Amino acid sequence: MPTTLIAGNWKMHKTIAETRAFLAAFLERVPHLPADIAIAIAPPFTALSAAREALAGQTRVALAAQTMHWEPSGAYTGEISAPMLAELGVRYAIVGHSERRMYCGETDRTVNLKTQAALAHGITPIVAVGESLEVREAGGTDALVVAQVRAALHDIPPDDLQRVVIAYEPIWAIGTGLNCDAAQADRVMGSIRTAIPGLAEASLLYGGSMKPGNAAAYMERPNINGGLIGGASLDPYAFADLIQNASLV
Ligand code: PGA
Repeated sequence: MPTTLIAGNWKMHKTIAETRAFLAAFLERVPHLPADIAIAIAPPFTALSAAREALAGQTRVALAAQTMHWEPSGAYTGEISAPMLAELGVRYAIVGHSERRMYCGETDRTVNLKTQAALAHGITPIVAVGESLEVREAGGTDALVVAQVRAALHDIPPDDLQRVVIAYEPIWAIGTGLNCDAAQADRVMGSIRTAIPGLAEASLLYGGSMKPGNAAAYMERPNINGGLIGGASLDPYAFADLIQNASLV
């Protein structure tokens, strides 16, 4: 069975003080949240250390990074490597988020390198894929996301594929409030599931305006094993409500 995972992507939000305040409130709710759901938060790099301290002594909430470099070290000004993240106890790294593809030069090739590097250092990659509105309206959604998945997972050994998480995030649904209909998302995610052999046990997340009020509709679908949450992960109570509503138990 794929792991059910709800991961919060904070993007460029929250200082160290705000991270501590979020976790103080969120951790009070965590013991009451359904045990069938794995939980992760991806704060900015600057707040990872403080988040780690706040999360010490519990195992329910894991740390994630929003991106990483593929080399373990080197002359890459401004970058952060997988060993640096692993040292901080980071369990997941988002790679290929559409905002990084759009603004930071992320390509299918670098997503593949990052995916391989994450796996090599014991970090679970959350590979983000998704189409623009233009591609969707031209009927090219499935072809594009399947190509993105195949490129991201090129040369990954079959045994490692079940450790990969894939997030389907239609670009037009991110941060817009225009969430993708659950049936449509599930259909595209069925194409992702079969894009290459070996993804039967991989967790597939939906992302794009997932909220407490619509989470259950996604989770009921066979190809959707969780969510990558932007806006609704910034508020501890909304994020906890979303996780509560995402449980199928
Ligand atoms: P959103 O962002 O939930 O605010 O739409 C999702 C994401 O970008 O991961």
